[in-house]
Amino acid sequence: MRGVVFRGLEELAIETIGMQEWDELLETYAPQGRVYVSPTAYPDEELFALAQGVASKLDKPLTEVLAIFGQSLFGFLAKKHVGISSKFSSFEELVVSIDSVIHMEVKKLYDEPNLPSITTTIENDKTIILKYKSNRKLCFCAEGLLHGAAQHYNRVLRIEHPQCMHEGADHCVLILHLD
Ligand code: HEM
Repeated sequence: MRGVVFRGLEELAIETIGMQEWDELLETYAPQGRVYVSPTAYPDEELFALAQGVASKLDKPLTEVLAIFGQSLFGFLAKKHVGISSKFSSFEELVVSIDSVIHMEVKKLYDEPNLPSITTTIENDKTIILKYKSNRKLCFCAEGLLHGAAQHYNRVLRIEHPQCMHEGADHCVLILHLD
């Protein structure tokens, strides 16, 4: 996973558990002297171990921490890549463009990024069906990113997750209900 994602986790960790505890996690789970540089790729296992470490320190399940992380990551990524995120005037427009525009632009900026496959179908003006597939199974993080995007556009969003890769499915199905 790219350094930019680790930096997003670091920002959230410093806010929630504090710098000292974050440094302790780095000492335990990252190679000595590790500094995360946005465009560089680092092992996924390192991100998962650090996220699990944050979850343990907060005494929350990993899935919950990944969702909170995703939510703050949206703002972090959107700020870092204003040129991409400012293209969309509504939540709906952004969501249907994740694969075809946002992550496509990411592919131009980063050398061989590891991105999920996301497809969307607009059911009606209040419902979007999103299919998520990735060998990282970061669907809870995706839910958080979607909540972050909804917050950005001042929308109230509820997500149903009736089919999940963590339960053996080939891809996750997220049903996005808008107010
Ligand atoms: C609601 C909107 C978005 C969703 C649901 C989403 C979903 C995801 C997920 C779940 C991942 C983790 C990788 C995986 O699952 O395999 C990811 C990675 C990433 N996304 Fe997005 N994303 C969104 C918006 C954005 C935006 C706005 C940007 C920046 C302009 C962005 C840039 C990236 C980057 C740089 C990575 C890491 C790629 C790598 O490590 O190689 N995403 N995205």
